[in-house]
Amino acid sequence: MILPFSLIVSLLIPILWSFSQSIINDPVPSGFRNQNITFLIAHPDDEAMFFGPILTKLSSKDLNNNITIVSISSGDFEGLGSIREQELVRSAEILGVAEAKNRVLVVNDPDLPDSMSVEWDIFKIEKVLAEHYQPTNIIITFDSKGISDHLNHKSLLPAASLWAAADSKLHRSIWTVRSIPTWRKYISYLDAFYLYLNPVKNPYGLRTYTVMSSYSQYTQTRDAMTVGHVSQMKWFRWGWITLSRYMFINDLVQVKGPIPILSMKKALKMMLEAEDKESQKQNKKQNPF
Ligand SMILES: *[C@@H]1O[C@H](CO)[C@@H](O)[C@H](O)[C@H]1NC(C)=O
Ligand SMILES: *[C@@H]1O[C@H](CO)[C@@H](O)[C@H](O)[C@H]1NC(C)=O
Repeated sequence: MILPFSLIVSLLIPILWSFSQSIINDPVPSGFRNQNITFLIAHPDDEAMFFGPILTKLSSKDLNNNITIVSISSGDFEGLGSIREQELVRSAEILGVAEAKNRVLVVNDPDLPDSMSVEWDIFKIEKVLAEHYQPTNIIITFDSKGISDHLNHKSLLPAASLWAAADSKLHRSIWTVRSIPTWRKYISYLDAFYLYLNPVKNPYGLRTYTVMSSYSQYTQTRDAMTVGHVSQMKWFRWGWITLSRYMFINDLVQVKGPIPILSMKKALKMMLEAEDKESQKQNKKQNPF
């Protein structure tokens, strides 16, 4: 009994896999070839845990893209920052990023720490990005929910919007990987069936792009974690790399620039607060008592 059963399962899985791929995979959108593409992430390992399908796809040689990964923090929450920086380079190599050593950038600024409770200053991020300027046509990052609601993730879209707006001549386009509800998070590639029945609509009326990994692209993404991010492979991560839908499928939407309305409000608030702080400092200087 056991032998036929395992035979059936081992036949079914590849069939189900390629069927799932065939129903949701979009052709590569125009403008995703011969480009400089930046993946903007918050911590080393985000690229493998959340962006694997799109990263392995866009780094494939026939598309001739230059892929850069910019991680704002080194992920130093547990004091492993310098190890995790090296792991990021290794992971990028496994994911197919050419010249990974030169194309992985970790910002690691004390004002932008790896922390679940510190809201990053998006103006600071924009400034740092502009300083480490990389010619980029396409920015791919988290959406405003940040997949896991991590504050660090959520600040990247508004910062990317500022960055894109700062040099409008470059016509940078921003794409975000959509956050999905919790019940869909751990159904691996079976989420393809949900997506097939509920195709992605872009709230801004712009383009969408859904990509599901082949088996070998999936193993690349998995190895990026198990071989690349060794220090992060705690027991529960095995659950993530086996079951998380983000290991198999990314659905992206293009974001209308420069800044979505909500972030605009937030940007204004932060700007006013920064001005307040500045004028308080000035006042103190003038009036030491
Ligand atoms: C990729 O970057 C190299 C320089 O590092 C450049 O010569 C080449 O034109 C770039 N490719 C594309 C498609 O922009
Ligand atoms: C990509 O960046 C390189 C410099 O690193 C530049 O020479 C090239 O023209 C850029 N490609 C595009 C498509 O803008």
